[in-house]
Amino acid sequence: MGLLDGKVAIVTGAGGGIGRETALLFATEGAKVVVNDVGSERDGSGTGKAMADRVVDDIASAGGVAAPSYDSVATQEGADSLIKTAVDRFGRIDILINNAGILRDKTLFKMDVPMWDAVIAVHLTGTFLCTQGAARQMRAQGGGGAIVNTTSVSGMLGNFGQTNYSAAKAGIYGLTRTASIELQKYGIRVNAVAPIAKTRMTEDLPMFAKLGTLTPEHVAPAHLFLASEKSAEISGQVLSVAGGKMSIYKVVESPGKFKEGNNGVWTADEIAEHWEVISKV
Ligand code: NAI
Repeated sequence: MGLLDGKVAIVTGAGGGIGRETALLFATEGAKVVVNDVGSERDGSGTGKAMADRVVDDIASAGGVAAPSYDSVATQEGADSLIKTAVDRFGRIDILINNAGILRDKTLFKMDVPMWDAVIAVHLTGTFLCTQGAARQMRAQGGGGAIVNTTSVSGMLGNFGQTNYSAAKAGIYGLTRTASIELQKYGIRVNAVAPIAKTRMTEDLPMFAKLGTLTPEHVAPAHLFLASEKSAEISGQVLSVAGGKMSIYKVVESPGKFKEGNNGVWTADEIAEHWEVISKV
């Protein structure tokens, strides 16, 4: 008995890195998997079928069931085609893992609009389009389903040289929160992971020279947990995975302070004077 027996799962960006490990694990757990990957370079340039095909072959060799999709999640046509592939091949969609991603890092001063647009398109627009398409299909099936998005420490806390990427990843956090609220009545859960793992996206970061033990294999079980009935009561959460460490991210509001008098209207001087209390979490 697998945790995903009878389920149909889409994993975007599953031709390598974290998505590949998740696709392999999902197939082992009994899911029929649509392995989506546009086959691009790390910066999003280029396309190819080999990455998705290789993972589909690996799943088939291990006795699992998978179908490839070479669509880009970043366009309406691509997302529509991906959803259609899942329904045409396997008849339904139970799980969507929005994992596809690219990087175009530059400091704020050097960031240009094409770098900004490309990263927002794949991460944020891609997550929106696939989530909308999968949720429509899940609703049409009578409800129920699990969607897992991918945010990042860069989106949750910020990171030097990544205004485009952190804006996209923080946007995915907001999308996850709102979609979890809107889709609750259809029994569709929406969560996110914030992984840290050595992949082609991160392999040249200095931290991985020291911390090479943070692998995609560590992240795949977090996807499995959030996609399966093991997390039946959990929605709207961000699960952080870095090697052997699991934690969650939360946005917190401080208890704050009410202004007495003047109809509750503060002056800037008063805000400065009470800043310590206002900002104490
Ligand atoms: P990766 O580069 O190995 O995987 C991303 C995959 O997405 C690639 O195979 C690529 O071909 C595919 N892809 C790119 N554009 C696409 C598009 N338009 N449509 C379909 N597929 C597309 O990188 P990794 O590390 O496995 O990243 C997976 C996710 O995890 C990404 O969303 C990334 O931002 C996120 N992440 C990774 C971290 C890490 O430490 N590796 C840290 C935080 C977040």
